[in-house]
Amino acid sequence: PTYETLLVETRGAVTLITLNRPKALNALNSTVMTEMVAAMAAFEADPTQGCAVVTGSGEKAFAAGADIKEMATKSGAEFFSEDFFSEWTSKVVKATRKPWIAAVNGFALGGGCEVAMMADFIIASENAKFGQPEITLGVIPGMGGSQRLARAVGKSKAMDLCLTGRMMDAEEAERAGLVARIVPADQLLDEAMKAAEKIASLPPLAVKANKEAVNVAFETTLDAGLLMERRIFQVVAGTEDKTEGMAAFVEKRPGVWKGK
Ligand code: HXC
Repeated sequence: PTYETLLVETRGAVTLITLNRPKALNALNSTVMTEMVAAMAAFEADPTQGCAVVTGSGEKAFAAGADIKEMATKSGAEFFSEDFFSEWTSKVVKATRKPWIAAVNGFALGGGCEVAMMADFIIASENAKFGQPEITLGVIPGMGGSQRLARAVGKSKAMDLCLTGRMMDAEEAERAGLVARIVPADQLLDEAMKAAEKIASLPPLAVKANKEAVNVAFETTLDAGLLMERRIFQVVAGTEDKTEGMAAFVEKRPGVWKGK
């Protein structure tokens, strides 16, 4: 399918999704959300695809937030009745068991920072800027900026960012643990694609199991999480790919994965 606000292409086993409203710094409107739901569902359903990369078009922005022009005239009742932007979490995050990486070029503000935090990890270009400026618009983050950010960087920095609305650069974001890696701007897409290709080359059931296990850490107690980890381990330990992976190691050859 073709999209109005996204560019979607498959490169080998990696799906590259580019937020594509460069004139509005890739601001996220309802069309972007609906199309992301569709693009991520297509990625999830396609057995040839193992990992996705989400980035922003243009040099300047990953996404400069939810679309302020769309939100400006919406009433509180409308936000509530449509449960505004809930599908980002229910259909983009929760429905996607395969991993996806946010490759953050330039501004990731408000909803842009929130979408980056929905990814399994963030690779930032050295010119990336993160922030939750909603307070300057008279509101608060609405799709994870108070919750995922607090878990990612801790209370003090999350409060600092949400209460002042200031931006932090890539270095600060990496120090704080928001970002997995920083790369030079001109290598961002290559590095993100390389990471995604690596993931897509690994045993697919183990990939899903690892993602699921790490995510448990954000939902539960340590004891319950450790139990879940053992159970998920025991499940993937019963796959043909485990037999193959361990045999390949012993025989000093690369493994050949079946996803079984
Ligand atoms: C709609 C936006 C936009 C946004 C930028 N644009 N951000 N349009 N929504 N979030 C548009 C501008 O209106 C402008 O269009 C064009 O993109 C270029 O932006 P400029 O402001 O001219 O660029 P610059 O001066 O370089 O400043 C860049 C910027 C600034 C610092 C990123 O654009 C900015 O502060 N944007 C808003 C950031 C923000 O507050 N985000 C949080 C949104 S609230 P024209 O037509 O004038 O050329 C949010 C809530 C999420 O995300 C929760 C939802 C449930």
